[in-house]
This record gives sequence, C-alpha cells and structure tokens, in this order.
Amino acid sequence: MRSRIDWNHGTLPAIGMAVLIAVSHVGTGETRSVVTPTAGELPVPLIAAHPSAAAAAAQQGPAALDYGVYKERVEPVLLRDRGGYGPGLSACVTCHVQSGTPMRLQPLEEDGSGGVYWTDEQSRRNFDVVSALVAPGEPEESRLLMAPLELSAGGSGFHVGGKFWESRDEADWQAMAAWVSAADPRSASAEAAPEVDFEFFRTCVQRIFQDREQVANRMECAACHGSGVRGFAQDLPEGRDFWNEQESRQNFELLSRFIEPGDPLGSRFLTHPLDSHDGGDNYHSGGRRWHSQDDPEWRMLAAWVNGDTPQCVVEDR
Ligand code: HEC
Ligand code: HEC
Repeated sequence: MRSRIDWNHGTLPAIGMAVLIAVSHVGTGETRSVVTPTAGELPVPLIAAHPSAAAAAAQQGPAALDYGVYKERVEPVLLRDRGGYGPGLSACVTCHVQSGTPMRLQPLEEDGSGGVYWTDEQSRRNFDVVSALVAPGEPEESRLLMAPLELSAGGSGFHVGGKFWESRDEADWQAMAAWVSAADPRSASAEAAPEVDFEFFRTCVQRIFQDREQVANRMECAACHGSGVRGFAQDLPEGRDFWNEQESRQNFELLSRFIEPGDPLGSRFLTHPLDSHDGGDNYHSGGRRWHSQDDPEWRMLAAWVNGDTPQCVVEDR
C-alpha cells in the first residue's frame, strides 16, 4: 500500500542537473569559478566556530527542530505517492495543498518531465507550517505523528485524511519521530505561539458570526456553520440570541482549528472569507466578508490572532 515513490522522482532530475552543471564547469576549465565561492565561504565560519563550538552551542540555547533533517527525512514522507487514492492512501500532499485543510503545504512545482518538487524557499515555508504541528522532543504529543496513526497504536481519534500507520515501528513514523525527538522541548517555549484571547472571542469575535451586513450573499456565518466539523457558530437553543460561556468555549475550540496563533495569513478563519485578490483562499462557498486586509475588522482579527486584545470594531464601522 505504501512505498511507491513516483512523487519523489521530481527531486532526482533536479539533483542530477546540479551535478551535471558542476561537472560541465569542471570540464571546461571553470573549476575555480564554481568551487571557489563555496570553498571560500565555508571554512570561515567553520574555523571561527571551531575553537568555541561548545560556547556557541550554549549561546544558541536548546536544540530546535532541524530544517536539514526535515527536508531530507520528513518532507519525502509528505510527498510520497502511496499508489492509491483517498483517505489512508493518497500522498499527504494531495490533500494538504488544498485550501480546505490545515497543515497547508506549498503548491508543488513541476519539473517538466512529470515529476514534482518543492523549491528550498517553499520547503522552508512548509517547515514552519509542519513545525507548528509538533511538540519538540515529544513525538507522542505531536499532531503530525498522531493524526495519521491508527487508534490501536495510540493515534488520535480524528483525521479526515485517514490512518496511514498501523504501528509506531513503521519507517515513516520513525523518521518523523527521530526529527521531533532530536529537538529539545525547551526550544518550544522560545518560539511559543502567542495566546489567543478567549474573552475577546466570546464578547467580540462571535458577533461577526451573526452579522449578515458585510457578506456578499447576505448570510451570516452562523447560518452555515451551526454544526459539524466547521460548526464554530453552533445553533442556539430556542429563546436565546447569543452563546453562553460553555457554548462559546465549544465554538472557540472548533474555530481554533482554523487559527494559527501568530500567523493571520496562515489562519483559515482569516483567509477563507477574505478576497482571493488580497491573500484570501481561492474559494469559500460562504462568500467573502473582507475585501482586503485593510478592512478594519480583518485588521482587528489579525491583531487578535497575533495575541493582542484590540478594540472591537464589529458593529461600529
Ligand atoms: C484524503 C485527504 C488527506 C490526506 C491524504 C491526508 N490528510 Fe491530513 N488532514 C486532512 C483534512 C481534511 C484535515 C482536517 C480535518 C482533520 O483534522 O481531520 C487533516 C488534518 C491533518 C492534521 C491536523 C490534525 C489536527 O490535529 O489539527 C495533520 C497533522 C495531518 N492532517 C497530517 C497528515 C499527514 C502526515 C498525512 C499523510 C501521512 C495526511 N495528513 C494525509 C486530509 C488529508
Ligand atoms: C452560505 C453558507 C456559508 C456561509 C454564510 C459562510 N460559510 Fe464558511 N464555509 C461554508 C462551507 C460549505 C465551507 C466548506 C467548503 C468551502 O471551503 O467553501 C466553509 C468553509 C469555511 C472555512 C474553512 C473551514 C475548513 O474546513 O477549512 C472557514 C474558516 C469559514 N468557512 C469561515 C466562515 C466565516 C467566518 C463566515 C462568516 C463571515 C462564513 N464562513 C460564512 C459555508 C458558509
């Protein structure tokens, strides 16, 4: 079921090309111009760092998630074609490049011969996104590892994408676990995401869910988001016109799936109803509420997602 690696072929021609270019330079006597820049740059920091390597390491603080290992060992898992289609069968990337999923990966580049790959810049963005779904040093606390793991092996209960690993002994799982384990849990607090203010959600953000004025099709969020996995504006019991504390908590918990603290443009709550011409997702069956990131309400929400408690501008704009 797993381990057909068609998707990976994309990276091979690229590597092959790089080697060919280097070789042809050597062959035409341009060895120096190719080799010198790298050779010239490398030893300097190496030599400088060497005598005080321990001191430098101490200064850098606890080991963070390693990008190199991610690129080499983890990203191939996300890219791998498993020879099937659907939950538990498709390559992770087939679903996770789409605007409807969390862990939103960069769109793939094509190499002209049917292969696909990510540029280094794209991989770095993926690295940020994927890193947000792991707890450094703690594979078992990492959603990346637990969502696709079978329940019987301790995986988490819910993954629309299905289950990919029957046990933690599987090579994919081990590769990801090694990456996560190598990082120090203390490195997490260094880059800890800001806390998103629940009280502001309860009193201010939820008012957006009931307001139909600013939406293209004149339907409030609550009309469509009243139940199910996107039910962050759950149906109100008869006789009440606003959510109580407990319902607000539940709404908040569901909406949190669509929020990346500290990253407004990585938060689908902010990108889904935002015009696609200004950073929004391609499609939302509920239409657009914000036509640009300059919309005062959008700016307010961005500040909130960044951990602030801004002034509420839902009604007075
Ligand atoms: C068939 C489509 C599909 C495939 C294939 C898929 N996913 Fe998902 N994944 C989803 C959707 C949809 C969600 C959001 C709903 C959910 O959390 O189940 C999701 C959610 C997640 C989450 C976030 C869970 C959370 O707690 O917020 C992680 C992590 C994840 N997937 C990892 C993976 C990995 C790793 C693979 C490949 C081994 C993969 N997915 C394959 C569709 C898919
Ligand atoms: C007319 C019905 C409708 C309205 C009104 C509506 N939505 Fe949606 N929304 C949907 C549907 C259906 C989906 C899932 C398909 C899609 O992505 O378009 C969705 C998806 C979303 C998602 C992405 C969820 C995911 O699974 O990735 C977010 C976030 C969202 N809506 C927020 C809002 C907000 C905020 C409002 C109000 C400003 C709103 N929606 C209004 C129907 C609606």
